[in-house]
Amino acid sequence: MKKIYKIILEKALPYYEKGRKGDIEHVKWLSNTIPNFVDEKEVDFDILMPLAILHDVGYSKVPKDSDPLKLDIRKLHSEEGAKIAEKILKKINYPQEKIKELKRLILKHDNWAFGDSFATEPYLRIFNNFDFMWVVSPKGFPAYQNIVKKDAKGTIEAIEKAQEKNIEQGRVWYNKKIGNYYEKLLKERKKEIKQ
Ligand SMILES: [Fe+2]
Ligand SMILES: [Fe+2]
Repeated sequence: MKKIYKIILEKALPYYEKGRKGDIEHVKWLSNTIPNFVDEKEVDFDILMPLAILHDVGYSKVPKDSDPLKLDIRKLHSEEGAKIAEKILKKINYPQEKIKELKRLILKHDNWAFGDSFATEPYLRIFNNFDFMWVVSPKGFPAYQNIVKKDAKGTIEAIEKAQEKNIEQGRVWYNKKIGNYYEKLLKERKKEIKQ
């Protein structure tokens, strides 16, 4: 990971410590996984990586134990997150126009829950692929299970239902490799249940 992304992560960690359980692992997984699937020549990583690292910092300002599945909490953590991201990025003298764009993207990052397909937003489309895929990753699955408060089987059902909705609302995989990786992780989690 580029040094500047590590610095951003370091500055974000104190907020994540006050935020939602499992989110430190969540953003570390995102920032380590995304570069394996997206070519740096295709999109500006100086936008994509800070988006992945900072998008959920706003949970630090959300009342403890509030339900992250609720739409008002989704909105609130996005609004607070955009403000915190600006503060962090300004402190490290990040380019002004990139701060502006990152604020806009963080504000919108959860709008899939309001039916947004992200079809015209390549950064959000890529980001959302992985933000969603986290729930089938080894550490993301138990974290998500804790949020939906279901047993493992019920959690898999909830994930598959959510993926059906993604397809229905036009949130498609940015490339085939990403879609294949989701299928692989989902298969692994299903196999664990059967054991
Ligand atoms: Fe979020
Ligand atoms: Fe997230």
